[in-house]
Amino acid sequence: MYKLIIEGGKSLKGEVKISGAKNSALPIMAATLLTDAPCVIRNVPKLRDTQTMVKLLQSLGKTVEARNNVIKIFSNGPLKDTAGYDLVSTMRGSFCVLGPLVAKLRRAKVSLPGGCVIGVRPVDLHLKGLKALNVKIEIENGYVFAKAKNLRGAQIYLGGVFGSSVLATANIMMAAVMAQGKTIIESAACEPEIEDLANFLIKMGAKIKGQGTPRITITGVKKLHGADHRIIPDRIEAGTFILLAVATRSDIIIKGACSSHLLALIDTLQGAGVKFNCTDDVIRVKTKRSIAPVSITTYPYPGFPTDLQAQFMALMALTPGISVVTDKVYPDRFIHIAELNRMGANIRREGINGIIQGVKRIYGAPVMASDLRASAALVIAGLAAKGKTEIHRIYHLERGYENLEKKLTLLGAKITRKRE
Ligand code: EPU
Repeated sequence: MYKLIIEGGKSLKGEVKISGAKNSALPIMAATLLTDAPCVIRNVPKLRDTQTMVKLLQSLGKTVEARNNVIKIFSNGPLKDTAGYDLVSTMRGSFCVLGPLVAKLRRAKVSLPGGCVIGVRPVDLHLKGLKALNVKIEIENGYVFAKAKNLRGAQIYLGGVFGSSVLATANIMMAAVMAQGKTIIESAACEPEIEDLANFLIKMGAKIKGQGTPRITITGVKKLHGADHRIIPDRIEAGTFILLAVATRSDIIIKGACSSHLLALIDTLQGAGVKFNCTDDVIRVKTKRSIAPVSITTYPYPGFPTDLQAQFMALMALTPGISVVTDKVYPDRFIHIAELNRMGANIRREGINGIIQGVKRIYGAPVMASDLRASAALVIAGLAAKGKTEIHRIYHLERGYENLEKKLTLLGAKITRKRE
């Protein structure tokens, strides 16, 4: 295991290039199960999670060739129907092979993913949607057994207690593209990653309308062909760099990012006094010496993303005054509070709220990464803190940030990795 050592308190300068979106790449890679023809996917970030998806596709019978950030996925033999516990339990994104497998093979056996440190994370909406498409679902020994003679299009309401679901929308969309007739998904997730998946499926020959809105209409087709696609930029990585720039009072140029995917964050920070200069694919952040505390509530897209909640909290922790961070998507995603407090922050959890009494200065300390975005929050805090921060269990970061240390070093950060 490795730890990260950060000497904080320096402001950064320069340009950073944003990688492809992890949460687009995962379902798009899964969608290649819908065809035997070769698919080429570009701008795939090299991450632990995309490597897990490669292993999963290989275990299902696909051949995967990866070169730099381009992967080619094709079939050399029949597809297998079982996605095992070993891989699915390490990454919830794996569960989105269920929809394409059942659409292609009319049967699938996929391990239930279970919860994780950010919450219970049920899959009821995935199963409800598939049942509506005439798929028989049984759960035995921790596996979902899905069978269908014919998938039939249907009108499906996919809203849950916490709003829409990203991967349930992906799973149902991937099953419905090869169902008989028309499917309408109501209360569909509107995330750019869902739009990206729909655009990939359309290139494969699927008939989809309304992607990016809460109503997606799909007309089933018999067969899909191969496609060549470039993954959109990772809005969460870009958002993390924006927050990092503000927290360290740095002048950073973020390249290859899409500012229109980050309006909730940009608007919130403008309210705090941060200035932005955005062009087609460049975001420049200019921060004044002091900013105002602002409160946020996370919602499904286009609301403030839960995947930036922890990083935003790190910024507010060192913004004097009171702010409140409320997570309505993952009400238990607050493990980072204890670690930020070890660095001198003053944050109190009350139900789904983090009440932050911002302080002038936080101090380096040994801290523990608990999940991907909590780790990013600790990196931000470590860069802004006075003194040395050691972040343990950094394998979480490798799940979602491509070359993070390299990118930060190029911006002038003092960051090193050491074996524990
Ligand atoms: N939910 C249900 N039932 C379901 C599915 C979800 O109640 O069947 C609930 C969840 O428990 C949660 C809410 O609905 O309270 C939203 O969850 P969603 O299904 O949208 O999450 P997901 O699709 O499993 C994706 C991302 C997450 C991101 C969420 C929310 C991928 C691979 N994962 O997860 O990304 O937090 O959407 O935007 O796309 C991350 O990248 O760090 C990460 C956790």
